[in-house]
Amino acid sequence: MTTTTETYGVDPSPTPLALLLLGREADPASERGVECPGDLPAASDPDLVARARAAKEQLGDRVFILGHHYQRDEVIEFADVTGDSFKLARDAAARPEAEYIVFCGVHFMAESADILTSDAQQVVLPDLAAGCSMADMATAEQVAECWDVLTDAGIADVTVPVSYMNSSADIKAFTGKHGGTICTSSNAKRALEWAFEQGQKVLFLPDQHLGRNTAVLEMGFSLDDCVLYNPHKPNGGLTAEQLRNAKMILWRGHCSVHGRFNLDSVNEVRERIPGVTVLVHPECKHEVVTAADMVGSTEYIIKALDAAEPGSKWAIGTELNLVRRLAKAHPDKEVVFLDRAVCFCSTMNRIDLPHLVWALESLVEGRVPNVITVDPETEKYAKAALDRMLALP
Ligand code: 13P
Ligand code: SF4
Repeated sequence: MTTTTETYGVDPSPTPLALLLLGREADPASERGVECPGDLPAASDPDLVARARAAKEQLGDRVFILGHHYQRDEVIEFADVTGDSFKLARDAAARPEAEYIVFCGVHFMAESADILTSDAQQVVLPDLAAGCSMADMATAEQVAECWDVLTDAGIADVTVPVSYMNSSADIKAFTGKHGGTICTSSNAKRALEWAFEQGQKVLFLPDQHLGRNTAVLEMGFSLDDCVLYNPHKPNGGLTAEQLRNAKMILWRGHCSVHGRFNLDSVNEVRERIPGVTVLVHPECKHEVVTAADMVGSTEYIIKALDAAEPGSKWAIGTELNLVRRLAKAHPDKEVVFLDRAVCFCSTMNRIDLPHLVWALESLVEGRVPNVITVDPETEKYAKAALDRMLALP
């Protein structure tokens, strides 16, 4: 491939964005990498579907393909199982016979799969640039600094960290080391209940919205019981007294897709479609979730649509690939996307058919590309936190 450097004779500065666009090198500011060694098949190759089928057939039981609900249709078609991040973590752990787990999802999910699978299994992420902007909002250094702030305020020993699955392995390891658990959007309430049996306060990372929505709407806490810790401000922008009075210390992170739905989206769709039921993911802002009729994880959303009456009308606030598939799967119901201005999750969408074909054909040729490995020390503590989640009642 001709690089920009060869063409212009200049060395462009490797900003994360440039690296992402080029699909090369590594992004030190992110939990993901961006290198894609080898040549990808062209997206226009008419044989891509046949190539994916042939490679998958050749690999047989040696490969197990997991597909998150937000993946493109062209990728989901080849998934052995689909699910939300909780189900996929379980599915990965339940497949000890597969040599290769090809994870069609994002980096933190592949890390979790590596942690939960045996050392003999290798987890492949077809495009290393498939990261998560929310996971990037909490770095190990920032979280260690936050713990120091809690220690100085005299509350670290009564605080239990609860980290959303959408976090790096480092954050999961921090959580495990400090006696906490991981949660997903399907079990956040149970995880918080467990945490409040262990301590008096929770440090919830990195999605403020899931933390606030679960605490306030499902557990009876008030908005005043929650404080927002901003890692970009000294002491998180909070006084020691504010920290001591809080029950829920929410990290200032959010999903760049779900965070874009707002109250206007809900009001507009109610006006446009009388009788519509608004169903949103708990990563949406508190004002959106309180204005909606129903709230739940991706698995919950899928089940709600399956159980819905023919002729019913639904506006769904979650990732667009999933909403489009739901609309197609339920032609007897009216299923619309909550806000026409919100777009796909760009990093989930990095995994496309060319990357999947490239990964599968590499495996057939005996090369294992884009292996996601978590170092043993991080794995030990991250696994403790993940195991606590898997053991939740
Ligand atoms: P779940 O898969 O837990 O519903 O989370 C949604 C999400 O944003 C995944 O990146
Ligand atoms: Fe991250 Fe949001 Fe994309 Fe999920 S949908 S991978 S939380 S940015």
